[in-house]
Amino acid sequence: MAPQVIDQKLPHLVTELPGPRARQIIESDQRYVSPSYTRSYPLVAAKARGAIVEDVDGNRFLDFSAGIAVTSTGHCHPDVVRAIQKQAETLIHMSGTDFYYAQMPDLARTLSSLIPGGGEWRCFFGNSGAEAVEAAMKLARYKTGRWQFIAMQSSFHGRTMGALSLTSSKPVQRKGFGPLVPGVTHIPYANPYRCPLDHEHVDCAKACVSYLEDIVFKTTVNPDEVAAIVLETVQGEGGYVVPPPEFLSGIERVARKHGILVIADEVQCGMGRTGKMFAFENFDFHPDIIAIAKGIASGMPLGVMMARKEIMDWKPGAHASTFGGNPVCLAAAIETVRLLQEKYVANSAKVGGFMKSRLTSLMDKHPLIGDVRGLGLMLGVELVKDRETRETAPSLRDAVVDECFKRGLLILGAGPSTIRFSPPLIIDEEQASFAADTFSAALSMVESGTAAA
Ligand SMILES: Cc1ncc(COP(=O)(O)O)c(C=O)c1O
Repeated sequence: MAPQVIDQKLPHLVTELPGPRARQIIESDQRYVSPSYTRSYPLVAAKARGAIVEDVDGNRFLDFSAGIAVTSTGHCHPDVVRAIQKQAETLIHMSGTDFYYAQMPDLARTLSSLIPGGGEWRCFFGNSGAEAVEAAMKLARYKTGRWQFIAMQSSFHGRTMGALSLTSSKPVQRKGFGPLVPGVTHIPYANPYRCPLDHEHVDCAKACVSYLEDIVFKTTVNPDEVAAIVLETVQGEGGYVVPPPEFLSGIERVARKHGILVIADEVQCGMGRTGKMFAFENFDFHPDIIAIAKGIASGMPLGVMMARKEIMDWKPGAHASTFGGNPVCLAAAIETVRLLQEKYVANSAKVGGFMKSRLTSLMDKHPLIGDVRGLGLMLGVELVKDRETRETAPSLRDAVVDECFKRGLLILGAGPSTIRFSPPLIIDEEQASFAADTFSAALSMVESGTAAA
């Protein structure tokens, strides 16, 4: 039987939350599933379409999380579903490690053509963001013959050992797993609202670049031993932080001076999320290696590590993956990229601009809002206890996220005190307005101390 199409645009709640079937599944999950997952609230998804997710009790939610910034073309976009079905009926697996199939060069050629500035790029295919980052680390070491990395504080790059060694957004992510990969030095990532080096954020970008050049490279790390500097073009998990443009260009300048490669982790901020296909297109920033995943295949598992052709010249056997670049995932990605190019990157820029101004206008009403920031549909609202001191408000943030869930809006936190709005890139202004209004109502509840516990 064909699944029932959800054609609603806004939420509709029919039971208490969680409902009876959701409670049963959560109970079973708690018994049998790894407790390491960090569920913010009890959503038990059953089906989804566009920006609407229906839970197992028939409650419908407006999804401004997109499964952590993944379902770029919306849930179950009919064209993507058709591409997956067609591919699954034809060839599910052969392994690009040992055999050829057309989808690999097809997607790689398209991605290469999307990089501004021309030049030829090559792609390595894996199954996740962490694998794309691992591959980037390995290629950087292989190409340069150097072993060290510079990474950023508050960054997130994944959970496998290499990616985890770069990650520094929360101590809990690293606790108990040491020793990690040696040779990673973390430096401050320029944050215009909350400069890690200067509370008054006087030229935060300059201070952070100088920290690398004048402190780290003069006291601790020999730049000749650094293979790559790794950073998220826009930080995701760390709090949806858009760096000042001079930070990225400054880091690139230092890298070039010392023959260090630049790796842009665009796993969360790439594929149209910031209103451009790649987030680095918003800046004067030119990475040598790019890690992509999440939004590239609308929910199918695919990670891509792209590098300039002259950099990705490793020998057969140097790196591979049995499943990475599986034909079904590639078919989903080819269709996703087509849709993004055709309309959804532009929609991300347009509706993102609208949504950002709606969120910014809420600052007059809500003293809890310290900062509204972001590009396209990668928008963050940082909550503070006090605008003067900018003291973070983690438990109030969590209460707002929870209150939004109870009102049918799915959002997630990021960093210590920020709420991220990362909906599918297909949303319209009506849905953006609904999300902003619901967020405002949730903030009012929390501000007045009346949010249900
Ligand atoms: C910027 C960034 N890099 C890497 C990753 C890791 O991706 P995955 O969870 O697919 O391994 C994430 C996941 O959130 C991410 O946001």
